[in-house]
Amino acid sequence: MPINWNWNWNWKLVLQSSISIVSALLLIQQLHHELIVVPSRRNKKSSKDLTLLSPRTRGIESQIGNTPLIEIKSLSKITGCKIYAKLELANPGGSAKDRVALAIIRHNEQMGNLTPYHGDIIFEGTSGSTGISFAILANALGYTAHICLPDDTSPEKLSLLRALGAELEPVKPASIVDPNQYTNAARKGSDRINNDPEDPRHAIFADQFENDYNWRIHYETTGPEIWQQMDENVDVFINGSGTGGTIAGVGKYLHEQNSQVKIILADPQGSGLANRVNYGVMYDTVEKEGTRRRHQVDTLVEGIGLNRLTWNFKQAEPYLHEAIRVSDDQALKMAKYLCINDGLFWGSSAAINCVAAIQTALKYGPGQRIVVVACDSGARHLSKFWKQASDIPNDITINDILEN
Ligand SMILES: Cc1ncc(COP(=O)(O)O)c(C=O)c1O
Repeated sequence: MPINWNWNWNWKLVLQSSISIVSALLLIQQLHHELIVVPSRRNKKSSKDLTLLSPRTRGIESQIGNTPLIEIKSLSKITGCKIYAKLELANPGGSAKDRVALAIIRHNEQMGNLTPYHGDIIFEGTSGSTGISFAILANALGYTAHICLPDDTSPEKLSLLRALGAELEPVKPASIVDPNQYTNAARKGSDRINNDPEDPRHAIFADQFENDYNWRIHYETTGPEIWQQMDENVDVFINGSGTGGTIAGVGKYLHEQNSQVKIILADPQGSGLANRVNYGVMYDTVEKEGTRRRHQVDTLVEGIGLNRLTWNFKQAEPYLHEAIRVSDDQALKMAKYLCINDGLFWGSSAAINCVAAIQTALKYGPGQRIVVVACDSGARHLSKFWKQASDIPNDITINDILEN
C-alpha cells in the first residue's frame, strides 16, 4: 500500500511539474515574442523609415536632381518666418549645373549633334560650376569636355577640372565683346572642329548663357521639386543670377502655380542686374568712367552677377518682383554665421541669397515661407571667398550682417 500511496504522490508531483514546465515554456515564448520578435519588427520598420533608401540606379547621371530641401533653423528662429534652402550642392557634380549640362547633352544627342564614344567634344566657356558638371558628364557619357576659362580661376576649381581630365584652355579675363573672352573662345573652338572636313569628330558649343535648355530644365525639374517639397505653399523664392537659368525656370514655374509668389533677385555688388530689375536700366557704380576694374563684375562672389543681358535672364524678367543688392561684406559674414550656427558650409552665392532672405523677412514680416537655393559648397571657394570668411569672428550676429 505504501508503494501505491507513493505512486499516487509521484504521479501528482509529475503532473504538477509538467504543468509548471509547460506554463514556463509558454511564458518564455510570450516574452520572446514581446521582447525580441515585436521590437525587432518595430526596429526594422523604423530603420527603414530612417534611411529611406532610394532605389538602385545606373550611372552618375541618374543621380542628378531630386535634391533635398532643408529649413535653415537659425534664420527661421530669428525672423519668425520659415526660411528653407534647396540643396543643389547635393547633385553629384556639386551644383545645380549638373541639371543644365545633362539637359544640353541629351538634347544634342537627340538632334544627332553628339554621338557617345566617337571622340565628340563639348566646348563650354565657364569660370566654374558648369565646367565641372560637363567634365563629369562627358566622362560618364562618352565625350571629351573642353573648357575655356579665365586664367585667374580659383586654384581649387582648376585642380578639380584637371583631375577630371577635361581639356583646359585658360584665357585672359576680358569683356564679352572681346573675341578672346572665354565664351567666345569656346564657340571658336567648336567651329574649328566642325568646319574642318578632315576632322571626323563633332563638337558642340554648350553656350549656357543663351541656351534655351538651361532655364527649361529648371522649369521642368527644380521648380516642381520645390513646389512639391513645400507642400504647394511658397511665399517667396530668392536666387542670384549667373546665366539666369535657375531663377527663370523656377520663377516661371512657381508663378504659374500661384501668381502671388514673389520671385526676388539677390545680386552681388558690381553687378548691373539689380538696377535693371528695380529701375529698368542695367547699371552699376563701376560703370562710371575710370572705376571699372579688370573683371566684369567686381565682387568676391563667384557664379552670379552680370553686366549684360542674357537669353536666360530675359526669360526670368517677367516674373521678377524686385532685386536686393548684397555687399561682399554681408555675404562673408552670412557665410560664417550659417557655418557656426547651423553647420552649413556653403559657397558665396548661397550666402548672398540668405542675406536677401533676411531682408525680405524683415520687409514682409513674420510667417513668410521663403525658399533660397544653396548652389554649391564652401569647399569650392576656400582660396578666395572663404579665405576672408574664415577670419570673421564666430560670434557674428544678424545685426552685424545687416549693418553694412
Ligand atoms: C555657385 C553658383 N551659384 C549660382 C549660380 C547661378 O545659376 P544660374 O546660372 O542658373 O543663374 C551659378 C551659376 O553658374 C553658380 O556657379
